[in-house]
Amino acid sequence: MKVLICDKTEKEYIEQMRLAGLTVDVRDDITPEELPNVLPAYDGMVVRSRTKVRQPLIDVCPNLKVIVRGGVGLDTIDYEYARSKGIAVMNTPMASSASVAELAIGYMFALARSTYKATTSMKAEKWEKKLFEGDEIGGKTLGLIGVGNIGKETAKRALALGMTVIAYDPYVKSADGIKMVTLDELLAQADYISLHLPKTKESANMIGAEQFAKMKKGVRIVNCARGGIINEDALYDALANGTVAGAALDVFAAEPPTDWKLLKLDNVIASPHIGAATKEAQARIGAEVAAKLIEFAKNMQPA
Ligand SMILES: NC(=O)c1ccc[n+]([C@@H]2O[C@H](COP(=O)([O-])OP(=O)(O)OC[C@H]3O[C@@H](n4cnc5c(N)ncnc54)[C@H](O)[C@@H]3O)[C@@H](O)[C@H]2O)c1
Repeated sequence: MKVLICDKTEKEYIEQMRLAGLTVDVRDDITPEELPNVLPAYDGMVVRSRTKVRQPLIDVCPNLKVIVRGGVGLDTIDYEYARSKGIAVMNTPMASSASVAELAIGYMFALARSTYKATTSMKAEKWEKKLFEGDEIGGKTLGLIGVGNIGKETAKRALALGMTVIAYDPYVKSADGIKMVTLDELLAQADYISLHLPKTKESANMIGAEQFAKMKKGVRIVNCARGGIINEDALYDALANGTVAGAALDVFAAEPPTDWKLLKLDNVIASPHIGAATKEAQARIGAEVAAKLIEFAKNMQPA
């Protein structure tokens, strides 16, 4: 089986695939313009979030049998179309859960204690002790929107910190230690709101002006899920008028953002989609991608 690695993948796992007999070519800087000329020669491809696999690309690759996405979301792949063409589409659903949960929790601490503002102040050689009275996370209510793998990992950590955890997820009836509520109840009760759901037609812009109006004044928001679930203009207004005391954003409607005004607010902290960017998550993703492709290749061989 011939596999094209289209995005950064740990060398160790590329070697594992080669040792298992797969022909693996690495073009982890391949451009969308080059792909339609190169990919038709391959049976399989490995992508992360950089390479998008859309219908026109699938149409020119009649030999493609498998797409493996190292990561969780499949929104970068037209996966229903791919499946309709008989192409297997796989991802690594659990590999980055702990890393994303840790980032979300870390962001809650940063928002609660303004460590990012204190750092900027100290770098300017100021000692503004009185400016930085924060509050504790323990005893506060965390509202999770989406309680799949990452939501549950986040809940575990929040519960250990003494938070009350409530959640809205129309597809989950119950989860350990979490009180399931309606979206309106969550918006009214949460001191922190953290998003852990996929971006779908249903969830795009689901947090807009109407939802911000229902939130507790001074709520803090963390989005390590996908950009565009929160309407960025509505978030800007809610941060500017004080409804939202602080927001931490790892993901954006456009990546990199085309409009940076949200990032210029001093109650916004942000990172460039690094939820899964830890050594541990990358190693788990690489191992899972290799294992899935090796297994797929075995099943492809005639008995
Ligand atoms: N920042 C990053 O680098 C990073 C890394 C990994 C995943 N993610 C994002 O995190 C999301 C969650 O990942 P996961 O592994 O927990 O996925 P998951 O599939 O295990 O869980 C997602 C949960 O969201 C729920 N959900 C779906 N639609 C919903 C809706 N409209 N309202 C409320 N809940 C809804 C589902 O029922 C499910 O329980 C992914 O879809 C991905 O977009 C981001």
